[in-house]
Amino acid sequence: SGEKKKKIGAKVELVLLGDSGVGKSCIVLRFVRGQFDPTSKVTVGASFLSQTIALQDSTTVKFEIWDTAGQERYAALAPLYYRGAAVAVVVYDITSPDSFNKAQYWVKLQKHGSPDIVMALVGNKADLHEKREVPAQYAEKNGMFFIETSAKTADNINQLFEEIAKRLP
Ligand code: GTP
Ligand code: MG
Repeated sequence: SGEKKKKIGAKVELVLLGDSGVGKSCIVLRFVRGQFDPTSKVTVGASFLSQTIALQDSTTVKFEIWDTAGQERYAALAPLYYRGAAVAVVVYDITSPDSFNKAQYWVKLQKHGSPDIVMALVGNKADLHEKREVPAQYAEKNGMFFIETSAKTADNINQLFEEIAKRLP
């Protein structure tokens, strides 16, 4: 079909947003290299990586990933990150209510993005379930695509990107 053809070799600009320490860089490292770095350093500015995935219908999608810095000093750049992005992935840490509140703020900034932007809300560090402070139901209330992941165990990391690919216009 025409829709299938459109996706072959499609390049998709994806931006990862969220508070410092929620695990954005670890999610990207897990997705792109299949690795986890427990001593991950804070991101300065933003870093760029790309990864191509094959979908079940044998089409491919190349994600061009902007892994942004979550530290407060970069907050003014937020609207810029949304510009030109086809996908925005907003990440929080399920053990940190503060990071969830910040995630809701990042979600609101989607007004700076394209009207057909694909949004995803991600609760990371799902392996720390005994320290959970943000119930999944809170995030489900947002009404956007939501998934819990663990960059540490790799749980739901590939699924996150596959589900995003399915939702591309
Ligand atoms: P900034 O670059 O400052 O915005 O932070 P970030 O969101 O990129 O965080 P980063 O990926 O550097 O991870 C921060 C810390 O969380 C690191 O010490 C990681 O080891 C840890 N971490 C990341 N993902 C997970 C996870 O899924 N589970 C657990 N237990 N720890 C994680
Ligand atoms: Mg980082």
